Amino acid sequence: MEQAKKRILTGDRPTGKLHIGHYVGSLQNRVKLQDDYETFILIADIQALTTHFERPQLIHDSIFEVAIDNLSVGLDPNKVTWVQQSHVPAIHELTQIFSLLVTVNALRHNPTVKTEAAQYGYDDMTYGFLGYPVSQSADITFCNADMVPVGEDQLPHMELTRKLVRRFNDMYAPILKEPQHMLSSCSRLMGLDGNAKMGKSLGNAIYLADSADEVARKVKTAVTDASRIKASDPGHPEVCVVNKYHQTFTPGEYENICEMCRKGAIGCVACKKLLTESLNTLLDPFREKRAYYEAHKDEVRDIISTGTAKACEIGEETMKKVRDAMFLTV
Ligand code: TRP
Repeated sequence: MEQAKKRILTGDRPTGKLHIGHYVGSLQNRVKLQDDYETFILIADIQALTTHFERPQLIHDSIFEVAIDNLSVGLDPNKVTWVQQSHVPAIHELTQIFSLLVTVNALRHNPTVKTEAAQYGYDDMTYGFLGYPVSQSADITFCNADMVPVGEDQLPHMELTRKLVRRFNDMYAPILKEPQHMLSSCSRLMGLDGNAKMGKSLGNAIYLADSADEVARKVKTAVTDASRIKASDPGHPEVCVVNKYHQTFTPGEYENICEMCRKGAIGCVACKKLLTESLNTLLDPFREKRAYYEAHKDEVRDIISTGTAKACEIGEETMKKVRDAMFLTV
């Protein structure tokens, strides 16, 4: 008998378009994983609202953008189950139940929550924001995910998830699956301005949805070695953003590019042109798929609602067991 594939669940907060940093850090990996795992991709709209509750329209529009970003890079609607978080009752019920099993202090000490709270400038925070890791634990367990592909910043949430599962299983009945994380091997892509992180709020990102001309224009603004005045001046690849990008997007030529830069054999303008070509070679096939889905929004809506309906059924199965285990029956 063919062994059932293991299940992975991963997700995005729909707060805007995804950029090439997201591609390198997670989307690219998802495309590979979809063949070997039963893949669930969660569109975490409720989690997005924990920081953007005043901007529901933005979250609504971003649900489509994020779904199309994922589809455009090659995530296959026939292989992937898309889940809209807000529409899965089991996630919300499980969130409530998990919230009984974690203390406020444990949540307050979550390093990722702390970092984000500082980024958003919260001196106090809502109950929903403080508790979003609990809701994330429910995202992962409602469908018995075996594995969760994540970046390093998500590790505290994975630890909490495992803790909650163990607590639940020990206290009530051993029915929830303890998930493993799969750490993304790629490091973060820095911003065009040399900031350690590419991000929308920093205005230093190249989006998957950018046109070829936009990519060319943005690459021209990228920070290079400031000590180079003339194209023939010897360069220092280690301080250059364009060089860092070549390492990721022009891997075959990387050593050569570094050497030419050091010798002053290639100037920054030519080097940026090469990078633009590499990026557009990567992005062109995505643009074609994107154009298709942009023109077939109903199909995207169907993909999300079909996946979400399947998730609701799976969640209800889990909740039946959970309610039984907790005597939430009559
Ligand atoms: N917190 C994740 C992020 O900010 C998004 C997310 C929500 C997620 N639910 C998830 C990731 C479940 C993995 C599994 O990127």
